[in-house]
Amino acid sequence: MNHFEYKNGEMHVEGVAVRELAERVGTPLYLYSSATLERHFQVFSQALWSKEALQSPKGEAPLIAYATKANSNLAVLQTLAEQGAGADTVSEGEIRKALMAGVAPEKIVFSGVGKTNDEMAFALKTGIYQINVESRPELERLSHVAGSLGLVAPIVIRINPGVGAGGHSKITTGGAKDKFGVSAAEAIALYGQAASDPNIAPMGIACHIGSQISDLTPMQAAFSKMKGWVQELRANGLSVERLDLGGGLGVPYFNQPEPPSPADFAQMVALTVGNLGVRYTFEPGRLIAANAGILVSRVIHVHERADSGQKFLVVDAAMNDLIRPAMYDAYHDIRPVCEPKDTKKGTYDVVGPVCETGDTFTRGRDLPVMKAGDLMAFMSAGAYGAVMGSEYNSRPLAPEVLVRDDKWAVVRPRPSYEDMMNQEVLPDWFRPRN
Ligand code: LLP
Repeated sequence: MNHFEYKNGEMHVEGVAVRELAERVGTPLYLYSSATLERHFQVFSQALWSKEALQSPKGEAPLIAYATKANSNLAVLQTLAEQGAGADTVSEGEIRKALMAGVAPEKIVFSGVGKTNDEMAFALKTGIYQINVESRPELERLSHVAGSLGLVAPIVIRINPGVGAGGHSKITTGGAKDKFGVSAAEAIALYGQAASDPNIAPMGIACHIGSQISDLTPMQAAFSKMKGWVQELRANGLSVERLDLGGGLGVPYFNQPEPPSPADFAQMVALTVGNLGVRYTFEPGRLIAANAGILVSRVIHVHERADSGQKFLVVDAAMNDLIRPAMYDAYHDIRPVCEPKDTKKGTYDVVGPVCETGDTFTRGRDLPVMKAGDLMAFMSAGAYGAVMGSEYNSRPLAPEVLVRDDKWAVVRPRPSYEDMMNQEVLPDWFRPRN
């Protein structure tokens, strides 16, 4: 459930009319709903927190470390931090943002295949919950960095379980040929090595098999393998206190099968890997943020090709604002901001102004008849939307607005053209301009 609904013929985000925000802030713009973020976090967390089989031996509930990469706007992060969320991070920038938003270091997980020494040092000095180690060279560097700081690095080893899943090949991470994690055999060897390294405290194992997963079967297969590896490590005399099961649960993008509910997911997890005597971590990203945000755009004009009659809705948002359709052929529902009085439909290709054919949001979609100046919303754009934005074609980044009830705030303003140009510096061999 989300809080984007039509009232009096106009789409609202909670208590605020989208049209009003579009007029005040300009388009394209991202709009987020606080209530939806909070609800998604609570529904997911409560489903897991309520399972006795998922309590740690010390009685700790699972750590729900929101995958910051999905939407790292500080206001979004703080909204979630206030609900008790931790943060799954993949860069020093994300760790810094999580801290800034009030996430306690002991709720921060640091993943990623290419952490630099400086990033490792920053994470260790911050005292985060754990570093998810993804390879042997990384473990060796981490040992060196921790040793030189006189600190011990709490780690889990990311195993690539050889089960890939996800909505698109570019977001599948657990396949045997993907770059993430190590094989189980290597993980078990590395774990033993880590246990005898005074600079490393191996705490457990982790996996994350993909994103936009709409079926529990591959997850269950991966998790039951993880259980076997926990048991194998223990049989080798090693202590295993933590199990990180990653993120990946899909969301409805409207044209796809309804993904499993958090309750079904929690039930599967409890049955598959419950009562293992570990503290569990989950890293949901999309599930929390996707349907808590929309991208609002205005139709620039409708171009009808004289030869074929093909109709292009040329809108002011583009692939630099929302790259998912270009990059993953992703489907985003498109809705008019003002409910059409007429039920007539038109068949449109919806395209942005960027000079690439890939800058196409959809082809041949039946939509309410639209004309220049009409506002439309790309739904489910709260995750992997603004964060993947760029200034390609020298287009300023779309602003972001967070709504709470009938209040709203610009939480990232649109840069002016001067702001954009001031980021670049001309070398002094050019003659100064007046
Ligand atoms: N944990 C790890 C280690 C991850 O790599 C990811 C996502 C997550 C958690 C969160 O997964 P989620 O719950 O959001 O599915 N840009 C792509 C998605 C890339 C996901 C990368 N990893 C998209 O727009 O679909």
